[in-house]
Amino acid sequence: MTRVLLKGVRPYGEGDPVDVLVDDGAIAQIGAGIDPGGAEVIDAAGQVLLPGFVDLHTHLREPGREDTETIATGSAAAALGGYTAVFAMANTDPVADNAVVVEHVWRQGRAAGLVDVHPVGAVTVGLAGQKLAELGTMARSAAAVRVFSDDGHCVSDPLLMRRALEYSTALDVVIAQHAEDPRLTAGAQAHEGEHAARLGYAGWPASAEESIVARDCLLAGHAGARLHVCHVSTSGTVDVLAWAKQRGTRVSAEVTPHHLLLTDERLATYDPVNKVNPPLRTGTDAERMRQALADGVIDCVATDHAPHAPQDKDCEWAAARPGMLGLQTALSIVAETMVRPGLLDWRGVARVMSERPAEIAGLPDHGRPLTVGEPANLTLVDPDAEWTVRGEELASIAANTPYEGMRLPGVVTATLLRGEITARDGKVAL
Ligand code: DOR
Ligand code: ZN
Repeated sequence: MTRVLLKGVRPYGEGDPVDVLVDDGAIAQIGAGIDPGGAEVIDAAGQVLLPGFVDLHTHLREPGREDTETIATGSAAAALGGYTAVFAMANTDPVADNAVVVEHVWRQGRAAGLVDVHPVGAVTVGLAGQKLAELGTMARSAAAVRVFSDDGHCVSDPLLMRRALEYSTALDVVIAQHAEDPRLTAGAQAHEGEHAARLGYAGWPASAEESIVARDCLLAGHAGARLHVCHVSTSGTVDVLAWAKQRGTRVSAEVTPHHLLLTDERLATYDPVNKVNPPLRTGTDAERMRQALADGVIDCVATDHAPHAPQDKDCEWAAARPGMLGLQTALSIVAETMVRPGLLDWRGVARVMSERPAEIAGLPDHGRPLTVGEPANLTLVDPDAEWTVRGEELASIAANTPYEGMRLPGVVTATLLRGEITARDGKVAL
């Protein structure tokens, strides 16, 4: 087992710099002037030490679209982005709706060895929204699936959603909903509003998200089940979540970095790199996302990392697939939108990028306090450094980042998984 000494770091960005000794996969010692002995030393003067990030919403594309991402390349992107655990969505080909596929994804993740890859199981067979998948078999498989989602599709049939929520209570798992009433978004290309109207794109109304979230909160309350709302994008959804939480519903929610920063003004570029589902919303919605993340109505940040091939993105808007890369830029977008304006301090970043997502998914070894004896799943961030995003330089096979050429604050300088360095100074370490 490697011994690593992190020198001069500030846990949660608080207090005087200390040294942190990592040994045998755990935090062994925290204090001033620790003798390195034979440990590998990372000189990190003034850098912020955080618990390793946990992403509840990643598309790794394997099996099926290994031309855009593999579990290995996506794991590299995750480690470089400061992640120690990611949840791989089920909309692969074949769909992860059975024990064979989820175990395959889990094993490939272990083989890559850079980040804990937890497969998400599909809620319905083939994501078709007709018949429940065998949730129990996936939960009991070697992959021990704890999060189920048809992401990319909404479980829109209320009876099927009710049954999924009811089963989930017996299995102690969470149902993560992609909230989009398909009857209200048929043919939609962009947020229904001023910009879509001007360009002649069919609109995706905010109410198509809000009505499903309201319905599902009621169904989850009735079943006593845990609901997780994927990629919240509208101000009205925040109102619904606040209401549901206040009445005791077991609901959690995530927001993507892109919905914190970008708005539907990007439509004017005509560049499909900005096409995503749910679509980029108004500036008022983005501001509400930031506020709700700060005050806890939205629990956490999840990337919705969605690699796409050039032929599926460098085409006309209507033909392009929705989605954008997110793993390697998430921390910087959170630094830009939340830390810089003072909406979150670094302890708050630990909460929304590590602690809450780990709690929601029931991961016992991630999102833990930075104290002696805890597992060394750690991320080091240089808060004062900046970098310029270049899609071609990211570890993903696809390059569809909406932040191309942007200069962003916050650089992940090292990531440790169970005490082993997985990424350091922009390079994967294994
Ligand atoms: O933009 C999106 N891309 N939203 C989704 O729900 C699915 C995802 C994908 O798989 O590309
Ligand atoms: Zn989705």
